[in-house]
Amino acid sequence: MSQIKLKFPENFLWGAATSAYQVEGGNKNNWSEWEKANAKRLTSETKKKWQKWQQEKFPEMFEEKNYISGRACDHYNRYEEDFDIAKQLGHNAHRFSIEWSRIEPEEGKFDEKEIEHYRKVLKALRARKIEPFVTLWHWTNPLWLKNGELNKKFPKYFSRYVKFVIEKLGDLNNFWITLNEPTSVIFSSYIQGAWPPQKRNPFKALCVYKNLAAAHNLTYSEIHRIAPQAKVGFSNIMIYIEPTHKWHLLEKLIVKISDYFSNRKFLKMTNGNNDFLAIQYYFHKKISFFGMNAEKNKNVSDLDWDISPEGIYPLLKSLKKYNLPIYITENGLADKEDKLRSAFIKEHLKWIHRAIAEKVDVRGYFYWSLLDNFEWDKGFWPRFGLVEINYETLERKIRPSAWEYKKIIEANGIIDESKS
Ligand code: GAL
Repeated sequence: MSQIKLKFPENFLWGAATSAYQVEGGNKNNWSEWEKANAKRLTSETKKKWQKWQQEKFPEMFEEKNYISGRACDHYNRYEEDFDIAKQLGHNAHRFSIEWSRIEPEEGKFDEKEIEHYRKVLKALRARKIEPFVTLWHWTNPLWLKNGELNKKFPKYFSRYVKFVIEKLGDLNNFWITLNEPTSVIFSSYIQGAWPPQKRNPFKALCVYKNLAAAHNLTYSEIHRIAPQAKVGFSNIMIYIEPTHKWHLLEKLIVKISDYFSNRKFLKMTNGNNDFLAIQYYFHKKISFFGMNAEKNKNVSDLDWDISPEGIYPLLKSLKKYNLPIYITENGLADKEDKLRSAFIKEHLKWIHRAIAEKVDVRGYFYWSLLDNFEWDKGFWPRFGLVEINYETLERKIRPSAWEYKKIIEANGIIDESKS
């Protein structure tokens, strides 16, 4: 039985991602206030939201404290220890986010101590020869920013904060991600109405597209003005959407429209202002005449999300025309028992490799996430980490899949047994 090794390009970046609010602990922003106001409600909705097997497997979802981020993983104080783990796991890149509400706790007042903290974080990565990717906005807003991303001054405020950050940290970092997944916020906050500020209103959703695109475009120029060598992009969640019946014209039309609003519109609005494309892939949806249905394989994550590695391939192919380097800045699953994670990573990498073999310029892969963390409105129970966190003791425990991922990193490639 011959085994085929799928080699990745030289200097490929391998790592994992986190975001400030989900791992740092001690944040005070629009989400931390919202979680306090909503923890009771979220607890009471558990029964109707989650299936029986999930309720049984994760009884902590019935406790109010599950929905309060609190000290999270205390990564704010333990980043050195966490980066030691990343290093031990062979990572040569790491993505994290800067918390705007720490840097600018009051409008126009910037906190030197907090910027110093992130300087230390960047230096800690550099000392370990880990290439940082820094996200400047991973959905959380300072409390003084009324109406957050809906505020028409959002681009102005955001670029003022970014200017301060780049002036202070620009010498230590090359890759800047302005915004994380604009369309997730647009959809979950303004179409579904599930996330803060829970405003269900398509008109507002369009305003947020506009504000966030303007914010990206403005900061793109600002970052380059201060740090000409910097590489700037935004991370785009891409959903692979296809019709259930290939002959069904209406389904095909719905696919086109959904694909446009989910995957393409923001890219179009920022076209010309991206030095690289950052792609985040979690979902595959099949459209049926009756609405969006996730196609269920037999393998689903603890969140009951379908696992469809092949969907990343057509998405990557569709980006080739931009002629820009591509980084997969998130891809991962909730899998407490770590039964599916290593196959998940490997299968996705196979499809990514196929795209690379067909001349799509993918240069890096960041698993979501390095650590178990606070999963937004769902709280702590979904376990995405390569590293398990005991939230009582804050002890870190490396999951077996993290060692499997390390083998891939060390080989800079994978063995494709299915082709043998
Ligand atoms: C992404 C998001 C992350 C994380 C992940 C898992 O959409 O950027 O913060 O929550 O999903 O659901």
